[in-house]
Amino acid sequence: MLRIEPGNATLGARVTGVDLGRSLSDADFAAVLRALGQYGVLCFPGQPIEAAALRTFSARFGGLQAMSSGVKDRGEPGMPEVSILSNVVENGRPIGIPDAGQDWHTDMTYNRVMGFVNVLVAKKVPVRNGKVLGATEFANTQAAYEDLPAGVKARLADATATHDWNNFHDIMRRKGSQRPALTEAQRRERPPVSHPVFLTHPISGGKVIYVNPGFTVAINGLAPDESRTMLDFLFAHVLQPRYRYAHHWSVGDVLVWDHLGTWHQAVGDYTAEEHRLMKRCQVLADKVFEAAFLEAASRERADASA
Ligand code: SIN
Repeated sequence: MLRIEPGNATLGARVTGVDLGRSLSDADFAAVLRALGQYGVLCFPGQPIEAAALRTFSARFGGLQAMSSGVKDRGEPGMPEVSILSNVVENGRPIGIPDAGQDWHTDMTYNRVMGFVNVLVAKKVPVRNGKVLGATEFANTQAAYEDLPAGVKARLADATATHDWNNFHDIMRRKGSQRPALTEAQRRERPPVSHPVFLTHPISGGKVIYVNPGFTVAINGLAPDESRTMLDFLFAHVLQPRYRYAHHWSVGDVLVWDHLGTWHQAVGDYTAEEHRLMKRCQVLADKVFEAAFLEAASRERADASA
């Protein structure tokens, strides 16, 4: 039987009593969806699923983003929707993307159809002297919105911001990443887009701060100085310790997190000899903004409590 146990931090719950290698019942999936809106980060421990099952489970949440042209060879063979995030090198060739996500961001805010969830399964986790390394850190942008000063909420109530895929590449290259700069053709693949600064979360109904340090480059309609000051204020506000949570991985964890209400970063605190290997699907927020998808979740809730 499905069991959802929240932790005692601002985000995070453990989900047990399901087998992700098999299809979840509609009622269990609806409960998972609700928990995602409530706790933001869900860990399913002891689910060492392979790429095909990861893809099937992930597709339940929405459309899957295929890997971009520049990293096509860093994924599961024959499955462009399953990327490999890893520092493992086999026969002199990196099998995955070594430094994916190693700074604060929210995936796919650079898309017109924004991101909804990431689903990762841990295959190798670095451990040094008994300490697990390579955590994934999160920040709760819904709790952070609630605590914003009223003046900031009012000033930005109807504002939109520009998100640019290239920005995260620049941040990583400035930090010493070996990844090449994006080509003009790659930039055209994912041109900048605008989204509201504050978004209503489709599951929880609460407002979230929907700008992030990785991809948001400007608040539209503000003078460049005010835009930069406002973004820096919002970034510092969200990154306060009270909104943060870290997931320390075990092999076989499947982690699903809600991009709409969180930011995340992968912590690169391990060496090239300490191996980390994750398989990942990135899911778009196409289905979650459809009323029918959410209605199914609320109908299941009504049925369960009848
Ligand atoms: C990501 O940003 O999707 C990667 C997170 C991780 O590897 O911990």
